Amino acid sequence: MTIENLPFIPHSRPTLGEEEARAAAAVVASGHVAEGPAVAAFERELCTHVGVAHAVAVSSGTAALHVVLAAMGIGPGDEVVIPSFVCSALLNAVAYTGAVPVPADIDAATLNLDPQEVERRLSRRTRAVILPHMFGLPADLDRFIGLGVPVIEDCAQSIGAVHGSRPVGSCGQASVFSFYATKVIATGEGGMVATRSRELAARVNDLKTYDRRDEHATRFNFKLTDIQAAIGRVQLGRLNTFIGRRRAIARRYCSAFRRAHLFPVCARCRRGLHRIHPPGRGRRHRLRPARLHSAAPSSQTGRVPPHGAGLAPVRFNPHLPVADGCRCRTNHLRGIRPA
Ligand SMILES: Cc1ncc(COP(=O)(O)O)c(C=O)c1O
Repeated sequence: MTIENLPFIPHSRPTLGEEEARAAAAVVASGHVAEGPAVAAFERELCTHVGVAHAVAVSSGTAALHVVLAAMGIGPGDEVVIPSFVCSALLNAVAYTGAVPVPADIDAATLNLDPQEVERRLSRRTRAVILPHMFGLPADLDRFIGLGVPVIEDCAQSIGAVHGSRPVGSCGQASVFSFYATKVIATGEGGMVATRSRELAARVNDLKTYDRRDEHATRFNFKLTDIQAAIGRVQLGRLNTFIGRRRAIARRYCSAFRRAHLFPVCARCRRGLHRIHPPGRGRRHRLRPARLHSAAPSSQTGRVPPHGAGLAPVRFNPHLPVADGCRCRTNHLRGIRPA
């Protein structure tokens, strides 16, 4: 068999089973399929997991970003710093509000936002920094919070990871989660905003639905359904098992590629969810025998750096060399089932 004939390792297959099927079927049988008691229970359970007082379920991670920015009053004339290497949902969410996305470069070793690069891009218009914990690796929250600008933690790829002794999602002004099919826990589509602030949670709750209002204001329909929430509750209950499995798989990869020195982050990332990425262009060829998706231009994880996307007005269109170099060189571990 030639290398070209080897099967690709699939990107992030969801782990759904009988329990999720039963939970969804029970909601269908109840006749209450829209937002209801399952959503409320899912919100409470996520609060417990993340260690925050308030959580508001929404229809996707993108919706979570959009509605929390809107709830923070961010709009035209404002700027929001985002990483230059991340999925374009962040760029879109900022653009929906009318604010200007300001991409900053990332740290080559962690693929997370580089705090010094963020500091260089702050202006008197900056209203927030969106800080994803990329591929499950917690970013250095203290450095970002120390910048004195509200931080929105983006935990779309990192629910269950821990920064020091604190779960990711518990430190910023607000945090967002995604339950898209390829995420750590999956409900098909889905998202959540979490925050310690009662006022912010109330504004998110107000904005996410247009129904049952006496007065009119422009609002969204960003609700999660009880069917999705029922699946999400089961998935959340399995989170520690998922993380244990990811770590076991990561250990296998690290051990298999030990001599290639491909995974510098893994060794330092014991509190994260574990992901691997080849560190440099020059070594890319070493991945070929395993046919990892990361080495392929078609990889779903080779995200568009916002500064190159041309989707929205951005304050800078700078050369962001680390992000440019990282495109198409990343690889998730979740869902990968080694033979
Ligand atoms: C870091 C990050 N933030 C936000 C999102 C958007 O989440 P969703 O696909 O649920 O809208 C994603 C999705 O890939 C993501 O990776």
